[in-house]
Amino acid sequence: MRLAVFADIHANSEALSTCLAYADHVGADGYVFLGDHITDCPYPQRTLRLMRDAAQRKPSWMLRGNREDVLIRHHEHPQEDWKPSSATGSLLYTYENLSAEDIQYLKRMPIASAIDLPGCPPLSIAHATPVSNTALVYPGSEALDAVLRTCPHPAMLSGHSHFQFRYESEGKQFVNPGSVGMPFYGQPMAQFALVSCQGRRWTVRMINVDYDKESQIRQFEESGLIETARIWALATIKTIRSGGRWAIECRQLAARRSPNGEYSERAWEEAARELGIIDQDGQLIP
Ligand SMILES: [Fe+2]
Repeated sequence: MRLAVFADIHANSEALSTCLAYADHVGADGYVFLGDHITDCPYPQRTLRLMRDAAQRKPSWMLRGNREDVLIRHHEHPQEDWKPSSATGSLLYTYENLSAEDIQYLKRMPIASAIDLPGCPPLSIAHATPVSNTALVYPGSEALDAVLRTCPHPAMLSGHSHFQFRYESEGKQFVNPGSVGMPFYGQPMAQFALVSCQGRRWTVRMINVDYDKESQIRQFEESGLIETARIWALATIKTIRSGGRWAIECRQLAARRSPNGEYSERAWEEAARELGIIDQDGQLIP
């Protein structure tokens, strides 16, 4: 039994379709989607379609991530002030490109679950941790050791940090497959993991695969996402091309420059220029 484990796709459908083809080529028997399937890249329904199609072909497990939570909350309490801007335009774009049925599809997903297959040790799965959709855990940290201490199963699959790693503690293993669509660390490739049940243990193979990044980037122009979420979208393109936490770092710097909490576009532009995301003319630095 071999499972392909995907986390943090962030609507990068080009990266996901390459990963799915790779997984099928090496004979994956099922798919695990750990959440943050959408937001950041354009055309979120393309990613959801790939996931629904995958689930028709093979056994699949789907969790919802913190980004799905944000979209569901907005659907239920739409008074939040989302508008075309670098701060909230990307979320607004994604929300406006989903149907009510898509929201219900995401809402039915749990934030954590377990996979119990005949002849294989059970696996815990979570977007971040079993009790939090936003906790960041890294290898060697007390926080991760504590998660493993209370984990009822010998292995856990979890995403959210966009950091691909395998870690052992408390006699249990923790696997973060990295990020399919938005890698923050290492090479700018689509990342996922293959986990294979071999007797009493799951063995792990981390995959980093190149894909048609420029095709994905062209979609930002065609879709209008750049107009709706200018600096956030440009920083996201930079992450696709080079890896790194560009959009998050830009938001942090813009926040420091907006002491009143307004996140002005001017603060975003200045931050993006300082970080080398855009040039003096406001154009993306390739
Ligand atoms: Fe996440």
